[in-house]
Amino acid sequence: MADTYTIMARVLVTGASGFIGAKLSERLVARGDEVTCLVRPKSHRGALDPLGVRYAWGDVRDADAMHAAVAEANVVYHLAGLASAFCAQDLMQVNCGGFRNVASACAQCDQPPVLVSVSSLAAAGPSPPGRERTESDPAEPVSNYGRAKRAAELVAEEFADRVPITIVRPPIVFGEGDTQMRNVFRSIFRYGVHVALGVAGSRYSLIHVDDLCDALIACADNGKRLAPAGAAQTTSPPQGYYFVAADERPTFAELGIMIGKSLGRQSVHVLKSRSTAGIWTAAAVAEGISRLRGQPYILSFDKAREASAGNWVCSPLNIRRDLHVAPRVSVLDRLRQTSNWYLQKKWL
Ligand SMILES: NC(=O)c1ccc[n+]([C@@H]2O[C@H](COP(=O)([O-])OP(=O)(O)OC[C@H]3O[C@@H](n4cnc5c(N)ncnc54)[C@H](OP(=O)(O)O)[C@@H]3O)[C@@H](O)[C@H]2O)c1
Repeated sequence: MADTYTIMARVLVTGASGFIGAKLSERLVARGDEVTCLVRPKSHRGALDPLGVRYAWGDVRDADAMHAAVAEANVVYHLAGLASAFCAQDLMQVNCGGFRNVASACAQCDQPPVLVSVSSLAAAGPSPPGRERTESDPAEPVSNYGRAKRAAELVAEEFADRVPITIVRPPIVFGEGDTQMRNVFRSIFRYGVHVALGVAGSRYSLIHVDDLCDALIACADNGKRLAPAGAAQTTSPPQGYYFVAADERPTFAELGIMIGKSLGRQSVHVLKSRSTAGIWTAAAVAEGISRLRGQPYILSFDKAREASAGNWVCSPLNIRRDLHVAPRVSVLDRLRQTSNWYLQKKWL
């Protein structure tokens, strides 16, 4: 099997209608790749139509549709996933079952494509006490989302003898087009108020979407691939797993102040929760409202499990050493870029 590809690849992007997938599709088109986007009938294609991409139609839970979608590709970027759901089973079906269908479809190709799968820091878990998490640390997910993402990583190892697979584990991703962090920016812009949900003093890795796209493309081009399940691991960190992150690791309160700066605000009033009780109360309210509306919301009991777990800081050294990719500018500059975009689009 080939495990690198050259410029002008035939690429499939799953999750292309989402925040990161749309940005990645734009970048791939700009570099000259022939891009096919996996979408569903109700997917928002507003950001994709102007790119002139081709579409493959289907749900990742549909194995036959995935077989048809990957048939022509020599690179597959797998981003389709659920960040929140009312039950753990839904997360498992989409994030793990969906990945299995994509990986299995790749394995059935005569020349299996390179598969770059976007997992999450949540699959690995929070930082060990007193230090950042590295790829060598055993995975210890604390949420249903994290467990589903980790289950998909283990499925990837099952296919690693047939498919060249690289797993990328981003922390919080922010940037233009993101609807989750928009609420944080909006509260600071409109009211000068930032609700710091998380254990006070906990630090977070984060990455801008452009820097994540640089990393994903570098992984497809030259990333190391997973070792097959059961194969003796000769390397530490284990081959084919990469964290990506900016150098800055703010607390949630510090992040609010940086966002305030990026929006030109002199001061931001930070509301900190003194104990995890505040996190659980906020999650209970959000969970209740989202169940009434019938629409899962990112703030939920599952996110409260993550928010009360301490630091979420990961080391980006492995990917920097292997692939020489690092964020091009500071987080504050990226926040300014994001704020300008939100303001231009009147999203705040
Ligand atoms: N954003 C972050 O902070 C972050 C951090 C770490 C990891 N990640 C991971 O990065 C990936 C992309 O995240 P994102 O923030 O761009 O998410 P997003 O904006 O919520 O987009 C999710 C995408 O997945 C698609 N999708 C969901 N269920 C699907 C299904 N059953 N079949 C086919 N497509 C399906 C959605 O399609 P529709 O438009 O049809 O719904 C959408 O294109 C996810 O795997 C996520 O877990 C994100």
